[in-house]
Amino acid sequence: MSEPGRVLVTGATGTVGSHLVRCLAELGVPVRAASRNPSTSGDTTGHVETARMDLREPMSTAAALEGVERLFLATPLEQDMAELAARVVDQARHAGLRQVVRLSAFGAGGRASTRLAAVHEQTEARLRESGLVWASLRANAFMQNFLTQFADSIRRADRFSACQADGRVSFIDARDVAAAAACLLTAQSPPAQACFELTGSQALSNDDVARVLSRVLGRRIRYVDMQPGETRAALRAQGMSAWLTDIVMELYALSAAGGASAVTSDVAKLLGRPPIAFETFVADHADAFR
Ligand SMILES: NC(=O)c1ccc[n+]([C@@H]2O[C@H](COP(=O)([O-])OP(=O)(O)OC[C@H]3O[C@@H](n4cnc5c(N)ncnc54)[C@H](OP(=O)(O)O)[C@@H]3O)[C@@H](O)[C@H]2O)c1
Repeated sequence: MSEPGRVLVTGATGTVGSHLVRCLAELGVPVRAASRNPSTSGDTTGHVETARMDLREPMSTAAALEGVERLFLATPLEQDMAELAARVVDQARHAGLRQVVRLSAFGAGGRASTRLAAVHEQTEARLRESGLVWASLRANAFMQNFLTQFADSIRRADRFSACQADGRVSFIDARDVAAAAACLLTAQSPPAQACFELTGSQALSNDDVARVLSRVLGRRIRYVDMQPGETRAALRAQGMSAWLTDIVMELYALSAAGGASAVTSDVAKLLGRPPIAFETFVADHADAFR
């Protein structure tokens, strides 16, 4: 069997990319881990090289693609993400890459009509036209959002707030998204064009989440539902851009209406095991909530 070719992981210091770099390196796959502020921390395998790459600098993305066989394409949640992704897809085609695995979002492909889904659909369309072998990972909301958005409030006040009423969400652990990407990027015969809807194995309301947090952490954690206007004002006061605030508010509305609650079997199909449970996620990150 031939040696695996190098994989360029974009967003390598991000939520999914950081796990993917680790997964691939542990499988013995050479990785180029790219972001604006790359970090080698934690690599003990010797399979990871880092590259400074800015998606807004075409020369740096072209350089990062040199000598690479496959690409994991994640773009930051910013207003021009579709344009940034389109340029990298075009560069990947010119560079003759064997495969692109794209980090997309649940709802792309018509399941829901949010602006975020529409933006990700644009990149899927670009991939479809490219002639490249590609897969799109349409992941639902990450469990890790509870670390970035709510851990501070849970630590300080034993509560977290949002505006999704009792709407349920089939949260997925970003480690499963990374494992799914690694599975596709190491496949001998990857599907030519494929979309995977990645969810956890159950849909939870924020009250359900509060119960899991309480049980695992051993103290009472409460979910406090806010009015959408209050949530919007709080996000803006935290410095979130108007564009991203609109995106987040749309996702809360979708979640409140049950539009993010579907549970799929794609993680199990790809990985041959069930998705990581929310309970396990909390136990694995308990210190962040204490
Ligand atoms: N959060 C969720 O629940 C969720 C669910 C489904 C899909 N998604 C999708 O996931 C994607 C984001 O992935 P993530 O959550 O793994 O990342 P993340 O944690 O938000 O981190 C962003 C990554 O992108 C890098 N980055 C930011 N700006 C860059 C630029 N101009 N050029 C190059 N690299 C840049 C960052 O590193 P540097 O700062 O060092 O550049 C970092 O590695 C989005 O497209 C989002 O729609 C998120």
